[in-house]
Amino acid sequence: MPVVYLNGEFVALDAARVSVLDRGFLFGDSVYEVIPVYGARLFRFAQHCDRLWRSLDAVRMAAPFTREQLQTLLDDLLAANPSAHDRYVYLQITRGAPPRRDHAFPADIAPTVFAMSGIISHGAELAKGVAAVTLPDERWLRCDIKSTALLANVLARQHAVDAGAVEVILLRDEAVTEGAASNVFVVRAGAIRTPPDGPGILAGITRDLVLEIARQHGLDAAMAPVSSADLLTADEVWLTSSTREILPVVTLDRRPVGAGAPGPMFARMQALYGGYKQAVRAGRAA
Ligand code: PDD
Repeated sequence: MPVVYLNGEFVALDAARVSVLDRGFLFGDSVYEVIPVYGARLFRFAQHCDRLWRSLDAVRMAAPFTREQLQTLLDDLLAANPSAHDRYVYLQITRGAPPRRDHAFPADIAPTVFAMSGIISHGAELAKGVAAVTLPDERWLRCDIKSTALLANVLARQHAVDAGAVEVILLRDEAVTEGAASNVFVVRAGAIRTPPDGPGILAGITRDLVLEIARQHGLDAAMAPVSSADLLTADEVWLTSSTREILPVVTLDRRPVGAGAPGPMFARMQALYGGYKQAVRAGRAA
């Protein structure tokens, strides 16, 4: 039975309970992070902390711990769930469980803090690539906050599954924003592009690292608006996220992307990313 962290205690998953008045449950009034773990090391922990603190500020919640305390909490969680696999930790902070339901913030309430770990596995998808479908982006304009209010993302992902695909690529005003739970890259004539930061997308940690590594190796990689026409005529399309790393999209709206197989730039990037993960496992990178 996995061990999870809940409000100061490590407990078996099936023993962890939160109140039905918890604002995370009633309103989606909560923020979260998903952090990869390679060789028991938290991947890009500083960057995930920066984003978590930005999310907390944006929803006017105080951090219930320091970064050092969070690192200890997550290291203890990982130690309580030993595994040789690549893993992730999921961390959620809600505004807490007041005595009655009211939209406005309750006074003097302790947040609910929950963390669990899980295994990252995606071998077959990486080798073959995946199908994606486009969909209008109907979400609010604070998608930069990593909030658990994810109903629109849930409906979008289910749209993909119903269409026999693994992810949607969302379009707002003819421009690509992101996936239901991933960022989007296109490769056109050797140039790697991903939509710029802003209120319409989550600033993905994986995406930032892909840009960083690509540039370090002399590739032309940058944030820039990506139109639906750019997307539909791309040589390669990739999705990135903490749990899927870099995933090649080989069909889009049932039509092949490029040659209909993972492309050469993907192969290059995946090798570079794999090298970086190895350095993290060995304690030579973070
Ligand atoms: N989701 N955009 C959205 C809407 C996301 O939910 C995610 C990640 C990303 C990629 O961000 P990162 O590279 O930092 O993981 C982009 C996580 C994995 C999830 O909800 O499970």
